[in-house]
Amino acid sequence: MNEKRVVFSGIQPSGDFTLGNYLGAVQNWVRDQAEKINYFCIVDLHTLTVPQDPVQLRERTRSLAAILLAAGIDPDKCTLFIQSHVTAHAEASWLLNCITPLGWLYRMTQFKDKSQKQESVLTGLLDYPVLMAGDIILYDAHEVPVGDDQKQHVELARDIAQRFNHLYEQPFFVVPEPFIPKVGARVMGLDNPSNKMSKSFAHIRGHAVGLLDDPKEIMRSFKRAKTDSGNDIIFSDEPEKAGVNNLLGIYRSITQKTKEAVEADFADARGYGDLKVRVGELVIETFAPIKARYESIMADPAELDKLLARGADQARQVAQPKLDQMKEIMGLVLPR
Ligand code: TYM
Repeated sequence: MNEKRVVFSGIQPSGDFTLGNYLGAVQNWVRDQAEKINYFCIVDLHTLTVPQDPVQLRERTRSLAAILLAAGIDPDKCTLFIQSHVTAHAEASWLLNCITPLGWLYRMTQFKDKSQKQESVLTGLLDYPVLMAGDIILYDAHEVPVGDDQKQHVELARDIAQRFNHLYEQPFFVVPEPFIPKVGARVMGLDNPSNKMSKSFAHIRGHAVGLLDDPKEIMRSFKRAKTDSGNDIIFSDEPEKAGVNNLLGIYRSITQKTKEAVEADFADARGYGDLKVRVGELVIETFAPIKARYESIMADPAELDKLLARGADQARQVAQPKLDQMKEIMGLVLPR
């Protein structure tokens, strides 16, 4: 079989684009885009599962599109689009709701976690992984490159695809697989290396590093990064070394070096202070050209809109017929 593999992944326009998003997901999307058929989606409907400011959400959606292009997503090799532009996603999620047991959704750790932090939990938050399953399986994606925190959701998408195939007795959906990078799958907060670096904690100073942050601010966060009272710059699973491990992991994910080569690079370092500055500098250097391209893309909003409209057209051509077939299989009458 020499058919090209299909890749689907998504990202929410819910806050500042972080180093975690870059290393855990986008860097890998960019690296592999030439060999596969790629769909990358800005999942604005998912963002609505917690309350949003409408003006900010609109701005963030377009800004995130510019960031992805600036980071190297090539619209000639990938289909980059906004989820709400392709209405098949919302429709598929309704159809899939009707075959997904509620218990599967209550089990999701991200739901448990996020719902505890909300005063009033919206239905959409519980239903979130069903929409995500629809995103993926509408394109018959084989691979879903995501960070570690999304693994359970992709596994649920597998379960939903398999349940549909089983209920309707045909191999209609490709059963997708999560693709988790070996390095960078879980970038931790610089302020507290036991918490995942997250857009939702970006307001806490020194927690997350944003692509658009001022380099001085980025360096300040690295200099303040939590480490331990020792001085060994080595990879280690010891809980107290989590801070050093995180810094070395960031360095390793960007340079793609082996663990041994990374440790050798720091053999001459003068303590953790030196480690923090060198990793901070590498991140700033990595972000600088992306930030420059971002500025120029944002300076031409008409071109950005054109690219996104083209992406949505391409996505629709795949998603709509799949949705129609799905409706037919489920017994709905298609309009003639
Ligand atoms: P989101 O927007 O939270 O994150 C986008 C991607 O970034 C990864 N990521 C991280 N990786 C490593 N370390 C971190 N600290 C870190 N923080 C975030 C995430 O794992 C993700 O890959 N539900 C998804 C969006 C989505 C989706 C999809 C993904 C909707 N539909 C279909 C894949 C396929 C989410 O909220 O990602």
